[in-house]
Amino acid sequence: MNVQAFDLRDDDRRPPVDDLIGVVQRGLRARPKKLPSWLFYDERGSQLFEAICEQPEYYLTRSEIALMELHAGEMAAVLGEDVRLVEYGSGHAIKTRMLLEHLSAPVAYVPVEISTEPLRACVQAMGERFPGLPVQPLSGDFTRALRLPIPPRAPRRTVLYFPGSTIGNFEARDAAALLRKMRNEMGDNGGILIGADLKKDTATIEAAYNDRAGVTAEFTLNMLVRLNREIGSNFDLSAFRHRAHYNTMAGRIETFLVSTRAQKVRVGRQQVTFGADEAMQVEYSCKYSPADFAALAARAGLEVTHTWTDPASMFAVYYLVRAGVGAPEASASS
Ligand code: AVJ
Repeated sequence: MNVQAFDLRDDDRRPPVDDLIGVVQRGLRARPKKLPSWLFYDERGSQLFEAICEQPEYYLTRSEIALMELHAGEMAAVLGEDVRLVEYGSGHAIKTRMLLEHLSAPVAYVPVEISTEPLRACVQAMGERFPGLPVQPLSGDFTRALRLPIPPRAPRRTVLYFPGSTIGNFEARDAAALLRKMRNEMGDNGGILIGADLKKDTATIEAAYNDRAGVTAEFTLNMLVRLNREIGSNFDLSAFRHRAHYNTMAGRIETFLVSTRAQKVRVGRQQVTFGADEAMQVEYSCKYSPADFAALAARAGLEVTHTWTDPASMFAVYYLVRAGVGAPEASASS
């Protein structure tokens, strides 16, 4: 395997476990109470997310894969030769494989992932599937400035690949800030290939976050299971329930853990009071029309040069470059 020694560069600046209590206590002091959605992804949470992707109502993953089946070849042509592909998150990287299959002489694949085990699995799978491809895993938090590994040869461009509509988890301000950070990381001639869920009718969107089998509800509640285990809190799982509704004005799914009765929960040395029906916010999943997304990109000094959608227009993938630089074809000769 052409994996660079798998020495994980430690860019991991998520709060260490002993600060988890602090993160949770701060969130519970906010009004409304609010916990960050990255807390979902312990080992069980990652498994549950994969199960969500297989639910009939959760159209996002299937739509993006259908989109890649149709358009990955054209995307690879737009990206051009000698690309260094940096992926934010790694997961099972099905879509990444579809892209890499079409890329011409990629310089390296750099998966950036906070948890070590999925990163290791990704490196192994990619090494087996693409034996000649240098894989340079980077262990870290992609919301922070990254020190990318030195590539094995000079790339013609660095492309940041951010599939899955993970950008939707960030509020508009934070999403713009993340895109601005990405704009710096990719350099003058770089690009961003990013997947985002499209706006559509409320019923379809709400069903995706309220699957009949209850997998999403279990995923949401698992956050409390995790906290009870890792910080010794005593959330009563039978006294909270999952609620996800689409806020049409804001264009986003808002997911809450709702306290079904008045109760007190111990978190570290603090007792936290919940009222009956009090909703604690745990996730946003923002939806963008192509025009919304172009506006978001513009806030970050970027412009959309290409837009691809699946046949049912459920999901979109955009290619972004620095605003004013023009289409990548025009600037690829540097
Ligand atoms: C992984 C952030 C794209 O927001 O749709 C799925 C996470 N949450 N069901 C999404 C999620 C509930 C998912 N993303």
